[in-house]
Amino acid sequence: MNNPQLDTDGRLRHLLSIEGLPKKILNQILDTAESFLGVAEREVKKVPLLRGKTVCNLFFENSTRTRTTFEIAAKRLSADVISLNVNTSSQSKGETILDTVDNLIAMHADMFVVRHSQSGAAHFIAKHVPNHIHVINAGDGRHSHPTQGLLDMFTIRKYKPDLHNLRVAIVGDVLHSRVARSEIHALTTLGVPEVRVIAPKTLLPTHVEKLGVHVFHDMKAGLKDVDVVMMLRLQNERMNGAMLPSSQEYFKTYGLTQEKLSLAKPDAIVLHPGPMNRGVEIDSSVADGAQSVILPQVTYGIAIRMAVMAMLAGGQGGQA
Ligand code: CP
Repeated sequence: MNNPQLDTDGRLRHLLSIEGLPKKILNQILDTAESFLGVAEREVKKVPLLRGKTVCNLFFENSTRTRTTFEIAAKRLSADVISLNVNTSSQSKGETILDTVDNLIAMHADMFVVRHSQSGAAHFIAKHVPNHIHVINAGDGRHSHPTQGLLDMFTIRKYKPDLHNLRVAIVGDVLHSRVARSEIHALTTLGVPEVRVIAPKTLLPTHVEKLGVHVFHDMKAGLKDVDVVMMLRLQNERMNGAMLPSSQEYFKTYGLTQEKLSLAKPDAIVLHPGPMNRGVEIDSSVADGAQSVILPQVTYGIAIRMAVMAMLAGGQGGQA
C-alpha cells in the first residue's frame, strides 16, 4: 500500500505519524536534528534552508511547546511564518478547514503545521493539498504526535546512546495519549528491546500488547530496573465520564515520586511531554530533580522540528 508520507523515491513528503515510517527515515531525522543543535549557539541563530518559503501554523487546539518550537524552528530556517489565530480567523464564521487551507495556498503557503482535536485532521489536509505542499501533524486527537515522539527519541539517544540495550517504561493515560502511540511506534521501530506500559486497566487501549509492549498495572513491578521513565499527562479533556476515583488516588498509585523512581536503575532518566500536572502524575521533586530531562526535551524539540521541515523542503542539515 502507498505510504502518503513518502514520495516515490522514498523521501519524506509529509510527516503525519510515526507508524509506517521506516527506521532509516527516523534515524535520518534524528541525525539531521543533531546537525541543527549548533545553530542555537551561533550569534545569528539562522540558516537559510527555508528562505523564501512560507510556513503556516494551524493550531485548532491549545499548545505552548509545540506551537512555539515550530515557530522558532521555522524562523531559524529563515522561513516566513504565519501562525493563524484560529479563534479570530474566519473558522469562527463557519469556514471549513479545507477552505481555510485553500485560501492560505492562494497566498503561496508552502508548508502547514496542523494541530487538531480530531484524529486524522492532518491526513485529511495532506490528501487535499497539491504535490509541492507539505503537511506536518502537530498532534491530532488521541492518534499521533510524531514530532513529540521524535524529540523524545532524540532526548533518550542523547542520554542513553545504545537504544538496543534499553528498558523503557511509559506510565499513565496511554488510552487517550497520542504521545504514547508515537513513542511506542518510535521505540519499537528503532529497536528498543523492552517497552513497558504501566497504567490502570481503564487507561489502556484494548489489545495494547499487540503494539509490542509489556503491560503492567503495578508501578513497583513496572519500574523495576528500567533505564527510561516516560510519564504521561492525564488527558481529562478526552475522558468521557469518570475513569478514575480521584486525582489524589491516582497520584498515590501511579504518580511518580522519588520513592517509586528509586526502583528504576540509579541512572534512569525521566521524561514528560508537558504540560505537567504536578502532584497528579508527577511529584515536583522528580520533575525538578537530577534525573529529569523534561526541559532538555523542549530544547531538543526545536532541532527536531528544524530537521523535519528541512527534510520536507529537500534540505540537508545545519552546516549551511
Ligand atoms: N507536548 C506538547 O504537545 O505540549 P503542548 O500541548 O504545549 O504543545
